[in-house]
Amino acid sequence: TTVEWEAESYDMGGHDTYMHKEIFEQADAVDRVLRGRIDDRFSTVHLGGLNLDAREARGVRRIKILGCGTSYHAGQIGAQLIEELARIPADAEPASEFRYRNPVVDPDTLYVAVSQSGETYDVLAAVQELKRKGARVLGVVNVVGSAIAREADGGTYVHAGPEVCVVSTKCFTNTVVAFALLALHLGRIRDLSVADGKRIIDGLRRLPEQISEILAGEDEIKRLAAEYAEAKSMMFIGRVRGYPVAREASLKLKEVSYIHAEAYPASELKHGPLALIEPAMPTVAIVPDDDLLEKNRAAMEEIKARSGRILAVAHQVQEKADHTIVVPKNENELDPILMGIPLQLFAYHTALAMGRDIDKPRNLAKSVTVE
Ligand code: G6P
Repeated sequence: TTVEWEAESYDMGGHDTYMHKEIFEQADAVDRVLRGRIDDRFSTVHLGGLNLDAREARGVRRIKILGCGTSYHAGQIGAQLIEELARIPADAEPASEFRYRNPVVDPDTLYVAVSQSGETYDVLAAVQELKRKGARVLGVVNVVGSAIAREADGGTYVHAGPEVCVVSTKCFTNTVVAFALLALHLGRIRDLSVADGKRIIDGLRRLPEQISEILAGEDEIKRLAAEYAEAKSMMFIGRVRGYPVAREASLKLKEVSYIHAEAYPASELKHGPLALIEPAMPTVAIVPDDDLLEKNRAAMEEIKARSGRILAVAHQVQEKADHTIVVPKNENELDPILMGIPLQLFAYHTALAMGRDIDKPRNLAKSVTVE
């Protein structure tokens, strides 16, 4: 009922777990998804397999992204990138929910199915339902030649390479980068200026080095993980660009450490979850240096006022937080790609300290090919 990688056939390359190996492959993986696609002359990118010419792309009025688990979270960031860079209304939804609500399929909407394996049943079934209703569906997929890649009208491979660990790390990052490329491409055939196109391309090119810089901070993240590992439950908060990062980081921690975690938009704290805040319920706050910085600081202040502990992931040390993991700054739109990476290591080291079966967490499968 499930598909597993033949784990034995891949070299561990000196890492104790596939999760650790795959986290550390991310600089190379991002380099791979960018390679050969950037067109400096027009400050855009070429995605060979989209099967969507410029005129058709201009006719797209909405984009609906479908996926499950980590791929769904990557799709949420993807939707934001598309809205920001191409100004096309876009949103992401779990594929199974979409499928079962008899969706209104609109001819001017472009549907995008996201999947690492390309075999997730709920995603495949959503694609088939869409095709049956005459929709155009693109795939953003890692495994070449997989069922979803074959079923889609076109799309792009994310080139993360084989991912063995059940929980997704490098494929998440590469999927978000692939969405940045798609957003840039759609933006540049609409209203994104040459200067902004160049700004995003320069930002994309900085990613591999910045990822290496983050990963070089592993010892400090490991120390922090040991400090928070005794928590029974953790809160993850972010706003707009930071919110899907918080959701994915919360999922990662749950999957590998079995610590209960939940993610909320920082702005929603006061509408309920603030009741949970106390010293035994630490919060991880995603605090990018963008126009919402002051709002995020105010949220941290509310948590401190309830004696909550805070670990911030930010571009500068946060006074309100007990600890800050400082990550390198990129362009505002691309910051989410980097801000989740230290939290992959945080989840990893928390699970390691707790003696968990990191590559094969209980009750989970790499690919769910049944309903
Ligand atoms: C399973 C895995 C998750 C993954 C999800 C979607 O639940 O445990 O890690 O995110 O499926 O998989 P896909 O291959 O479609 O990205």
